[in-house]
Amino acid sequence: MKMLITGGRGMLGRTLARHLQAEHQVLSVDRNNCNITNRFAIDLACRNFQPDVVLHCAAMTDVDGAESDPDAAFNVNELGTANVAAACSEFDARLIAFSTDYVFDGLLDRPYHEGDAPNPQTVYGKSKLAGELAIRRLCPNHLILRTAWLYGEGGPSFLHTMLRLGSQPGPPIKVVNDQVGNPTSADAVARRVLDLLDSSVVGTWHLTSEGEATWYEFARAISREVPFARAVVPCTTADYPRPARRPANSRLRKMQLERHSMQPMESWDAGLRAFLGRTAARRAA
Ligand SMILES: NC(=O)c1ccc[n+]([C@@H]2O[C@H](COP(=O)([O-])OP(=O)(O)OC[C@H]3O[C@@H](n4cnc5c(N)ncnc54)[C@H](OP(=O)(O)O)[C@@H]3O)[C@@H](O)[C@H]2O)c1
Repeated sequence: MKMLITGGRGMLGRTLARHLQAEHQVLSVDRNNCNITNRFAIDLACRNFQPDVVLHCAAMTDVDGAESDPDAAFNVNELGTANVAAACSEFDARLIAFSTDYVFDGLLDRPYHEGDAPNPQTVYGKSKLAGELAIRRLCPNHLILRTAWLYGEGGPSFLHTMLRLGSQPGPPIKVVNDQVGNPTSADAVARRVLDLLDSSVVGTWHLTSEGEATWYEFARAISREVPFARAVVPCTTADYPRPARRPANSRLRKMQLERHSMQPMESWDAGLRAFLGRTAARRAA
């Protein structure tokens, strides 16, 4: 199949391209050659390439930056996504788009499933939800895949920040211990996308690794695999104020996978060990 990836230079876009190119014809585009806020640019890419599937990874992902520049966030995450959805409809391509746990308010005391009502608390979350609504309005043949706490080759991600800080001696690294989520390898998401391409399922699905951890527990797990030059200590969200409020509960339940009797996602700690093992092996080679 012919696969067009928007935001192809980003972390997830690069990972998807790496997984897909063995079996599919992949064209990765990014802001410089296909700015999704320009309807003409995405139409032209679809007219020229005639994709069977568009994997929509382009997004404004600067969660704190979005608070001070909401226009930029809505321009890309709502308007840009609407352009991609309209182009998919017009050129008869299946749309697979990525969304986020930030569409939820993080207040529930259980993992959020696909049927739970969104209630975003940040500009980023509101702009991503607006993008979801545009997709549902404009392109019936869509899959919206909500993921969270991603890390992948080259980053940037929390894992990459921890590896960088951990490699330098210094005072203990304070890491938030009262936000919980599902640390998820972009490779695991890409593998599951390959499975989903073989089916004609539509709608909104959650795709994160199984099991849960706080950011502190995630950092500790990284430091067990790659010993750090400094300690990691827990702190609270209140100790570490940020412009955008982080959801206290980012855990996502994969109800659609359960309903379709699909294999559960891999556990987050197995995914982490595999990722760090591959990174170490590449460095040694
Ligand atoms: N990373 C996570 O933890 C996470 C969690 C949940 C959901 N997601 C979602 O997963 C998707 C991929 O995220 P990611 O982690 O790969 O983010 P990323 O590394 O920031 O990649 C996003 C890409 O989109 C590009 N882009 C931004 N504005 C654009 C525009 N107007 N036109 C075309 N391209 C544009 C960026 O290019 P520039 O570098 O030039 O800006 C970048 O290459 C996004 O939808 C994100 O919301 C990510």
